[in-house]
Amino acid sequence: MRRPVSIASPKGKLGVLTPGMGAVSTTLMSGVELVRQGHSLPVGSLTQMGTIRLGRRTEGRVPKIKDFVKLAELNDLVFGGWDIYKDSAYQAAAKAGVLEAKDLDKAKKFLDGVKPMKAAFDQNYVKNLSGTNVKKGKNKFDLAEQIREDIREFKKKNKLDRLVMVWCGSTEVFMKANAVHQDLASFEKAMKANDAAIAPSMLYAYAAIAEEVPYANGAPNLTADIPALEQFAHDKHVPVAGKDFKTGQTLMKTVLSPAFKARMLGLNGWFSTNILGNRDGEVLDDPGSFKTKEESKLGALEYILQPKVYPQLYGNFTHKVRINYYPPRGDNKEGWDNIDIFGWLGYPMQIKVDFLCRDSILAAPIVLDLALFLDLAGRAKMRGIQEWLSFYFKSPMCAPELYPEHDLFIQLMKLKNTLRWMMGEDLITHLGAEYYD
Ligand SMILES: NC(=O)c1ccc[n+]([C@@H]2O[C@H](COP(=O)([O-])OP(=O)(O)OC[C@H]3O[C@@H](n4cnc5c(N)ncnc54)[C@H](O)[C@@H]3O)[C@@H](O)[C@H]2O)c1
Repeated sequence: MRRPVSIASPKGKLGVLTPGMGAVSTTLMSGVELVRQGHSLPVGSLTQMGTIRLGRRTEGRVPKIKDFVKLAELNDLVFGGWDIYKDSAYQAAAKAGVLEAKDLDKAKKFLDGVKPMKAAFDQNYVKNLSGTNVKKGKNKFDLAEQIREDIREFKKKNKLDRLVMVWCGSTEVFMKANAVHQDLASFEKAMKANDAAIAPSMLYAYAAIAEEVPYANGAPNLTADIPALEQFAHDKHVPVAGKDFKTGQTLMKTVLSPAFKARMLGLNGWFSTNILGNRDGEVLDDPGSFKTKEESKLGALEYILQPKVYPQLYGNFTHKVRINYYPPRGDNKEGWDNIDIFGWLGYPMQIKVDFLCRDSILAAPIVLDLALFLDLAGRAKMRGIQEWLSFYFKSPMCAPELYPEHDLFIQLMKLKNTLRWMMGEDLITHLGAEYYD
């Protein structure tokens, strides 16, 4: 990837489109509106609250990230989306039950104005949902063309300068890449033939790339993580990123496991269980969708701990992940981890983590950051997989010859160094030898 020569300024309005207007998407929209009205702080958002050190430690140059790289302003964001239910963003947010009525009411007028467009949906890919706000079409290619038309219409109607799309739809059933995903011609042929290997989420990703709209995938579905769409994004100069927002349990996992490895503490086992009662939990109650999520949640430890490099410490650990749909908890998930580690002379120890989190409260700022960073990448003419956004994902997309980087601290360093590199600032290696000359 070449360093951007120039970065277009974020003038005008930026459209943020989310396929799926459920808990995460509507918590994002409500939150941005509450921040715009001055009622709340954008806590959890690196783009809004984070700073970046530039130059030597003695220089004291620590601007806010959003000022350093000139991100779109929250006042310039315009939201839209698709869903299989007709509920406005206000109704959907009220049903999701993430935010209290006293907060939602302040954003009601705004949220009432965000109505979902008809979804490209097929229950074969999300077994536990059915709705009526669904497109009809000759074939899958025709549905993708309809999404493209929606995008163009939304842009025109709202007088937008640019757009980004972040998949906030349900987790689809587990799929592996096959021959039809290998190149664009086979992919388009398969869409026209209604091939089962083309999931609805792929139609949105295809449409976004075709319309030159940067795209990120917040769920673990395969979607854009296939050679055909990666190549398409590269050729069309569109940035893409994914998959699966890294919010609660996996965030903890990718913080704790680097610490164990740094101190050469061994691991015998890691048992992770979750109870959650939102619609996402209901969807994940289907074994097909659970399998997609399970694969995504299982990946991180293997890559961080490198069992092949450290067979005595990490060559034989048991890793289990469970998700249980438990309606009384709603969006307030409990992620409980039991970690069996061992130390000096092999003596065993245990760590218990009980994270009583709020799923969508953790996810919403991630969607905001992704929207703003993808827009930045688009304005900088960066294309294809944006590995520097791995920080936000459980299953980061990366070039085929690479393994994904999961360690949160390496991911953050990579993200900030990418911003420095884009702006022509020195990269920070933390060597610091110059202070002792
Ligand atoms: N909240 C988190 O912490 C978190 C973390 C990682 C990933 N995710 C993923 O983000 C996604 C959204 O989560 P959520 O809690 O908002 O779920 P949700 O069930 O509240 O919302 C998803 C919405 O997507 C809609 N949908 C499904 N298929 C669609 C399609 N083909 N087109 C348009 N709309 C479609 C559903 O009707 C639903 O309203 C899920 O896939 C979830 O697994 C969430």
